[in-house]
Amino acid sequence: MSETVQSPALWRQLQCTASLVQATMAGKSMTGQLEAVPALLRPGVQALAFQVMRQWGRARALRALLAPRRPPPAVDALLCTALALCWDASQAPYAPYTLVSQSVEAARKQRQTQAQAGFINACLRRFLRERDALVAQTQGDVEAQWNHPDWWVQRLQEDYPEDWQRLLTHAQTPPPMTLRVNVQHGRVSEYQARLRAAGLGVGRAVGPCGLQLDQPVPVQHLPGFANGDVSVQDAAAQMAGPLLLSGMPSDRPLRILDACAAPGGKTGHLLEIRPDARVLAIDIDQARCERIHQNLQRLSLSAEVRPANASAPEDWWDGERFDAILLDAPCTASGIVRRHPDVRWLRRPSDSAQLAATQRQLLESLWPLLAPGGRMLYCTCSVFRMEGDQVIQAFLQRNTEALLRPSPGHLVPGQALTGLTVGDNPFGEHDCFYYALLEKAAAPL
Ligand SMILES: C[S@@+](CC[C@H](N)C(=O)[O-])C[C@H]1O[C@@H](n2cnc3c(N)ncnc32)[C@H](O)[C@@H]1O
Repeated sequence: MSETVQSPALWRQLQCTASLVQATMAGKSMTGQLEAVPALLRPGVQALAFQVMRQWGRARALRALLAPRRPPPAVDALLCTALALCWDASQAPYAPYTLVSQSVEAARKQRQTQAQAGFINACLRRFLRERDALVAQTQGDVEAQWNHPDWWVQRLQEDYPEDWQRLLTHAQTPPPMTLRVNVQHGRVSEYQARLRAAGLGVGRAVGPCGLQLDQPVPVQHLPGFANGDVSVQDAAAQMAGPLLLSGMPSDRPLRILDACAAPGGKTGHLLEIRPDARVLAIDIDQARCERIHQNLQRLSLSAEVRPANASAPEDWWDGERFDAILLDAPCTASGIVRRHPDVRWLRRPSDSAQLAATQRQLLESLWPLLAPGGRMLYCTCSVFRMEGDQVIQAFLQRNTEALLRPSPGHLVPGQALTGLTVGDNPFGEHDCFYYALLEKAAAPL
């Protein structure tokens, strides 16, 4: 197979995929690594690497059967990459024999794996011959069955006795591309007409200004993307702005704090809903603050953006209370594993408890900054109750002037919209999020 400008050879993509996978298993985020992959290779490698992460539990179990003594890391990564991609022919992006021969080619063409090309060939050919028997031997292995770490499966079983299987299955499906139409620039129906004219279908309406596309497309192909007519944002993330702002006073500009704002997806939405608002957007990560600027610039919206630690308001707060605070807290990101399938293998069982401590501290530090009668929306993109419900229930016990308003709670995907209730609110096609809307009791007259 020759390498052309349009499509790099599959063996080259497999080499790059295996090296990303190897670094991920050593603790490096795949999303960050993908940014450094040459542009020509990136789309193909991303598709392969994400597919490998979704099948990693099974691939590791199969490798352990084929090679009980673990091979050196680069060989192991390439062998497991090939197994992950070809174990289920119905999902394989290429025919299994093509994957095998290209994986062997990949091994031959690089120093770290060259000497083991024959070994990789022998393992993969044995796998193709004995596939059914080998797969049957992995039955009963939780990681192989669900392609998530054991502890993760166990925690979902505890947190969602009814829904854990559905959640794990959902996590295996590639996510849809969902758009948020900027209603300051035009109506949703008008944007649908523009999509149709561009040959991209009309999308499926989700929420007040969301459109789910039939097929993901590069953002440059979206009509008016550069002018801020539309943004890419999951349907669950699109709930933040309306939840926080609907019903808030409309006769004056609101003062809003977006406390963990980068890259600014929700900051932009808040301003699309209330362009007159005075928004302070802070994030502890200075480099990520630049992303907020870029996002707002594209949308032609403005906010005060500052690198700051939300847990230390004494360093940056001017003493004027906020009408509304959005706290999109740092979390395990366990609710967005469809988009980031590496996350499940990067997290450790203790991460949720550590993050919950940070989340509690952020809530306690920011609560005094809220005006009486004001609202705070707490959210995370974690599916674990330790970072959602449990944080909020403890906070409500400590702060009796905090009232929990009707909130989605843990959003469990995969079912029809049932409306807003306190507690879990399963609906539709979206990531897992947790939302709690808190109101500060108005000062007594
Ligand atoms: C879930 S992301 C926020 C996503 C963002 N709200 C959006 O919709 O685009 C969490 C952010 O919290 C920031 N962060 C973590 N600890 C923080 C702290 N103590 N103060 C301010 N920002 C913090 C991280 O840098 C990260 O950008």
